[in-house]
Amino acid sequence: MDRTEQRRRTVAEAVADIRTIEAREGVTREGLARIRERLITLAAHTELFGPDDFPPPGAGDSRRSALYRLSEDPDHRFALYANASHGGYGTPAHDHTTWAVIVGITGEELNKFYDPTQDGGVREKGAFTVRAGSGVAFMPTDLHSIHIDAPLINFHMYGLGLEQLHQRRYYKPAENAWAIFPPHADIREAR
Ligand SMILES: [Fe+2]
Repeated sequence: MDRTEQRRRTVAEAVADIRTIEAREGVTREGLARIRERLITLAAHTELFGPDDFPPPGAGDSRRSALYRLSEDPDHRFALYANASHGGYGTPAHDHTTWAVIVGITGEELNKFYDPTQDGGVREKGAFTVRAGSGVAFMPTDLHSIHIDAPLINFHMYGLGLEQLHQRRYYKPAENAWAIFPPHADIREAR
């Protein structure tokens, strides 16, 4: 079996388990912790998720990170991506409007966590660096920001595909205002 086929099968087994976990537990913190653990097991297959198959954006591309779609159901549920970054990338605080789990393969992604405040802003309440063997999980309204300094590959998985998420909000501190993320449009097919 070649590596592409091996990856397809290994990903399909993990996503099947994740569908079962969500069906059994619903979208709960306990269920998302189990999904995170299942993705950590998947991420241990580092030979299937290396930089030869998942390179960051090429020279001349202004983007710092590339997203590869590894799996997504026909109804757009259970969307799993490999994210390959050069580093030098970050986001403002934002929500997802669906559950989200991030798990490390190589490199490090700093996640900061926030609570909304009474005056419409955000307050940082903690942080966690995602690397191989660890991950973070978010309920649909949870807020986080990500900060990537150096090259990495990791998994980002969502209850619904990123192209379907039209109401993800991010916070603009200079204006103490919220805006809507445009849906992702540059996802590379890797199923
Ligand atoms: Fe996010």
